[in-house]
Amino acid sequence: MFETLLSPLTIKNITIRNRILSTAHSSGFVQDGLPQEQYLAYQEQKAIGGIGLTMVAGTSSVTPDSPGKEAGHVDVSSDDIIPHFQRLAKVVRQHGATVFAQIGHMGRRAIWDRDNWFPVLSASHIREPVNHSFPKEMEDWDISRVVKGFGDAAHRCELGDMQGVEVGGAFSHLVEQFLSPLVNVRTDKYGGSLDNRMRFLFEILSAMRDRVSSEFIIGFRMSADELRNGGITPDEGIAIARAVAERGLVDYLSIIAGEGENHISHPTVLPGMSYPVAPFLHIASAVKAEVNVPIFHAGRITDLNTAEQAVADGHIDMVGMTCSHMADPHIVTKLRENRADDIRPCVGANYCIDRFYVRGQARCIHNAATGRERSMPQVIVPMRSRVKKIMVIGAGPAGLEAARVCASRGHDVSLFESQNQMGG
Ligand SMILES: Cc1cc2nc3c(=O)[nH]c(=O)nc-3n(C[C@H](O)[C@H](O)[C@H](O)COP(=O)(O)O)c2cc1C
Ligand code: SF4
Repeated sequence: MFETLLSPLTIKNITIRNRILSTAHSSGFVQDGLPQEQYLAYQEQKAIGGIGLTMVAGTSSVTPDSPGKEAGHVDVSSDDIIPHFQRLAKVVRQHGATVFAQIGHMGRRAIWDRDNWFPVLSASHIREPVNHSFPKEMEDWDISRVVKGFGDAAHRCELGDMQGVEVGGAFSHLVEQFLSPLVNVRTDKYGGSLDNRMRFLFEILSAMRDRVSSEFIIGFRMSADELRNGGITPDEGIAIARAVAERGLVDYLSIIAGEGENHISHPTVLPGMSYPVAPFLHIASAVKAEVNVPIFHAGRITDLNTAEQAVADGHIDMVGMTCSHMADPHIVTKLRENRADDIRPCVGANYCIDRFYVRGQARCIHNAATGRERSMPQVIVPMRSRVKKIMVIGAGPAGLEAARVCASRGHDVSLFESQNQMGG
């Protein structure tokens, strides 16, 4: 049972110890655009918990016109990041996990009045529906500057001891804005035919290849079906995947479905409890059938049986269990120790992403310690000191958690609730 999920995967000269990864996510746990103590503590728990690969630094900003600092993203646009990445890589790698970083550019999804108040950029001058910015259509010199930014950022990732780098090209960010006919209505060599819409992506990946060593892993995260009239179709998604794989521009692809342009479509890229399990696995599987590089996929795969099946049946090579690791960073260790029943499952409430957007830092509705690892341990160790008698009044979520923690510490706990049902 779970042999495939727990088997290693080798890409170039990097062997990932199992098939489970945490895909990139901007958590807001950074300070001044740099991963510091809070972020290190958060990522370290996943490494201690046995994860194969953790993708750090979701949509980290390659150039200053994709605001990083005030948006809670990692800023990879200057060399300041290098020593911070080195510390982060050391913390993760010492526990046997592999660490890659995602770099990106928000394009028109950037909020205009953050950081430097630079003009918001996009493929075309089409208003963004959530932040309401009117982006500037990128001119030749904007394109070459951002392409260079991706190359420089990839170089910084390698200098920072990351073991790979991924272009964040999904979630309706800048690269997808060029790929998608919904946002790209250009009439120059970057618009129109699919070949033209892919040109920006090719330039980015080529610039990155030029700036890193031949052994350094480069990946691309993309939506292979925007699930929207006029958007990237499955045929185009497969064509994009084949184009970058056959040109040798990527060493793996991370495939999702949907797009995150507005509040209605956003749940497609972050499917929560209203979706069935693994709603878009078939789309990643269709890409895998057409390309010769490993395929990563995340999207509401929250249980280990589905994860094992997805890899064992050859649909994908690595399973993203991203929110699942926010709910419980010790999934693999518990699986290996035959304690799978102790895994705290992600229920798909999507409080994590909502809180990141609204309050600037993600939290998990199901695990109070996530993002607070320095003051709240993920593993409760019994106290050596005298056991206390503790009464907890009220069995709502907070009372239940207080009672759980106190009991795990070895105290004698009584929980009182006036209603005939617990849970608040
Ligand atoms: C708080 C939060 C922030 C995210 N930010 C990013 C991001 O910056 N880049 C990205 O590619 N995906 C981002 N994602 C999406 C995840 O990588 C993943 O695709 C998604 O959570 C679905 O996988 P899951 O069901 O295993 O959680 C984010 C997810 C969350 C919860
Ligand atoms: S808040 Fe927690 S349980 Fe809910 S979707 Fe996010 S990680 Fe999963």
